[in-house]
Amino acid sequence: MGEILEQVFISVGLLVCLVCLVKCVRFSRYLLLNYCKVLPRPFLRSMGQWAVITGAGDGIGKAYSFELARRGLNVVLISRTLEKLQAVAREIEWTTGSRVKVIQADFTRDDIYECIKEKLKGLEIGILVNNVGMLPNLLPSYFLSAPDDIQSLIHCNVTSVVKMTQLVLKHMESRRKGLILNISSGVALFPWPLYSMYSASKAFMCVFSKALQAEYRAKGIIIQVLTPYAVSTAMTKYLNTNIITKTAEEFVRESLNYVTIGDETCGCLAHEVLAGFLSLIPAWAFYSNAFQRLLLTRYTSYLKQNAKGR
Ligand SMILES: NC(=O)c1ccc[n+]([C@@H]2O[C@H](COP(=O)([O-])OP(=O)(O)OC[C@H]3O[C@@H](n4cnc5c(N)ncnc54)[C@H](OP(=O)(O)O)[C@@H]3O)[C@@H](O)[C@H]2O)c1
Repeated sequence: MGEILEQVFISVGLLVCLVCLVKCVRFSRYLLLNYCKVLPRPFLRSMGQWAVITGAGDGIGKAYSFELARRGLNVVLISRTLEKLQAVAREIEWTTGSRVKVIQADFTRDDIYECIKEKLKGLEIGILVNNVGMLPNLLPSYFLSAPDDIQSLIHCNVTSVVKMTQLVLKHMESRRKGLILNISSGVALFPWPLYSMYSASKAFMCVFSKALQAEYRAKGIIIQVLTPYAVSTAMTKYLNTNIITKTAEEFVRESLNYVTIGDETCGCLAHEVLAGFLSLIPAWAFYSNAFQRLLLTRYTSYLKQNAKGR
């Protein structure tokens, strides 16, 4: 009996060591890619001449547009407000010298894709950033108390990813080259109470993205889903930045170092560590009423105190 117990303890110990080793290897790959700049700078440009970014008029999408233009790509900016798009386009052309096209489209509608397809015709698209998304409630809220724009949310957060991918992937497949970045969210990594619709819509992105990567990896296409936590943008009412809450520019610059790290990443080291800690919370505690009360009280007052709501 004693010997069997000893064997069990040794096996469990070895298993724990193995898990720790895997985590250390993954962590060191982040350090290597971020600090040693292992990814050659022309890598992104080698995907093709143009990058297409949805939700490019502000926040994370705007930051991707600037950074990709800085790295030598021409950019197609697709978003809702034409004046904002034109202002961003002028600034990108002026500061980077890259070519910029703008397409005004409202992703809460599902009749926009023929027009987008027409406007993208003939472009050698190497990168697609499926960034557009909406968060119905920044403050935690029960499903029945959240804004009732379910169809718009599904069109914007789910349909847009599938349709834009369908438009661009065919050409990437024939060129056997391309990069698709799908901006999901940390709340997609497991179901988040009080953000149910948002969390579920972003989880769709993770599943779709990872399944697609398995299908198209052998055809030379990289499809990566990003699951960031807080980034200070209009969506998060310009939360004060800190070690966790990144500016859009910081987040984007770092995330582009990790495009070859695998089919899923938080996009920055700080969020990767946070995700690791959150995954240690046992499900019974995470889905308890006490945790929801904590979100409704402490987290809500944190958001109210730190949001600038510009
Ligand atoms: N910020 C965060 O903390 C955070 C964390 C995790 C994941 N994300 C995800 O990252 C993505 C970008 O978020 P963000 O914080 O950068 O948002 P943001 O600052 O609110 O910017 C969103 C951009 O998308 C555009 N947009 C919104 N709804 C649209 C629609 N129906 N049709 C066309 N364009 C639309 C906006 O257009 P206008 O210029 O007209 O406003 C704006 O340019 C989202 O998918 C979000 O879910 C954000």
